[in-house]
Amino acid sequence: MMMDNHMQNDRNRASQAGLERLGIAPPVLLAPLAGITDLPFRRVVAGFGAGLVVSEMVASQEMVQAKPSVRAKARAELGLGEARTSVQLAGREAHWMAEAARMVEAGGAEIIDINMGCPAKKVVGGMSGSALMREPDHALRLIEAVVGAVKLPVTLKTRLGWDEDCLNAAQIARRAAEAGVQMVTIHGRTRCQFYKGRADWAAIGDVVTAAGIPVIANGDIVNIDSARAALAQSGAAGVMIGRGAQGRPWLLAEVAAALYGTSAPERPEGAALAELVSAHYEAMLSFYGRDLGLKTARKHLGWYVAEAGGAPALRHRLLTSRDPAEVLRILPEALEPCAGLECAA
Ligand SMILES: Cc1cc2nc3c(=O)[nH]c(=O)nc-3n(C[C@H](O)[C@H](O)[C@H](O)COP(=O)(O)O)c2cc1C
Repeated sequence: MMMDNHMQNDRNRASQAGLERLGIAPPVLLAPLAGITDLPFRRVVAGFGAGLVVSEMVASQEMVQAKPSVRAKARAELGLGEARTSVQLAGREAHWMAEAARMVEAGGAEIIDINMGCPAKKVVGGMSGSALMREPDHALRLIEAVVGAVKLPVTLKTRLGWDEDCLNAAQIARRAAEAGVQMVTIHGRTRCQFYKGRADWAAIGDVVTAAGIPVIANGDIVNIDSARAALAQSGAAGVMIGRGAQGRPWLLAEVAAALYGTSAPERPEGAALAELVSAHYEAMLSFYGRDLGLKTARKHLGWYVAEAGGAPALRHRLLTSRDPAEVLRILPEALEPCAGLECAA
C-alpha cells in the first residue's frame, strides 16, 4: 500500500503515543536472549539507558506447576518489580499462559510479552514459540487468554512467518491488535531461517502497515547506522537489539542518543571499563552463586575482552580460571587493547 507523507506522519505520531502509554521511551529495547540477558545483564544495560528490557522467556506451564522453591527462583530471574522490564511468557495452552500471566502480574510485572518467535526445536517441538505462526487461530486463543487474564499491557514478539511460503506476520499482528495486544516486535527472519541470512527490515514494513499498533523492528541491528537503516526501511516505531549488545551494554543508550536525542552515554574505557565489568561479574556471582556464576559469566567476559581488543592469552586465562579472585585480578589487564606480538599469542 502506498502511503503519503501525511498518513505516515499521523501513523508515526500514533505509534509514539502508543509506546508512551506503555512507558517505553526511548523506543530502543533490549531483546530477550535466553541464557544471556539475565537479570544482572539487564541491570547493566538499563543502567546505561534503554526504553525497555525483556526477560528471557519462561515456560508458562512449567513455572505455574513448579515446586515453590523452583518457582521462587524463576520469579527472581524474571526480575519482577524491576522498572522498565517486560516478562516474556512462552507456552502452548491458553489455560497455562493465562495462569502464568496472572502469577507474574501478582508478582509485580509491568508488561507481559508473548513469545511467538523462538525457532528452537525444543520449543517448536512442543508447538510453542514460532510454531504458533502455523496455527494463527490457536495463537489467537492464547493471546486472548493472556489479555483477558490480566490488567497489564500485553505485547507480542514474533518473526516474519514460518517460511518464505507462509509470511503471515502482518495478519497475525492485525488480529493480535484487535484482541488487545498493544505492541508487536518483529524479528525480520522466518522461523526456517533460524539466524541465517540477513534480517529483512523492509518486510517488517508490511506489518507496520497492517498492525495499527506500534511495531518494533528487530534483527541484525548492531550499531547506530543499522538502527537508522532498520527504521528507515521498515517505518517501525522503534528498534530492539539483542546480540549487538553483547560485550557492549552501552549500545542501546548510544543508539537512543543518536536517534532520539537522549543524553549520550560515556563509553567506558580503561579503569572505568574494568570497574564496570568487575561489578557485572560480581553481580553474576552473587545472583547465581559461585560455581554457576563462574561458568555463566564466561561468555560475557569473553565478549567484553573481544570488544576491548584484549590479548588472547589473557582472555584464555580469564575464561579458564576457576577462581573468582584471580578473574577479578586479571580483568583490568585483560581488557587493555593488545598491541604487537601479544595479539598473536
Ligand atoms: C542465544 C539466543 C537466545 C534467544 N532467546 C530468546 C528468547 O528467550 N525469547 C525470544 O523472544 N527471542 C529470543 N531470541 C531471539 C532474539 O530475541 C532476537 O529476536 C534475535 O536474536 C534477533 O535479534 P539480534 O540480531 O539483535 O540478536 C534469542 C536469540 C539468541 C541468539
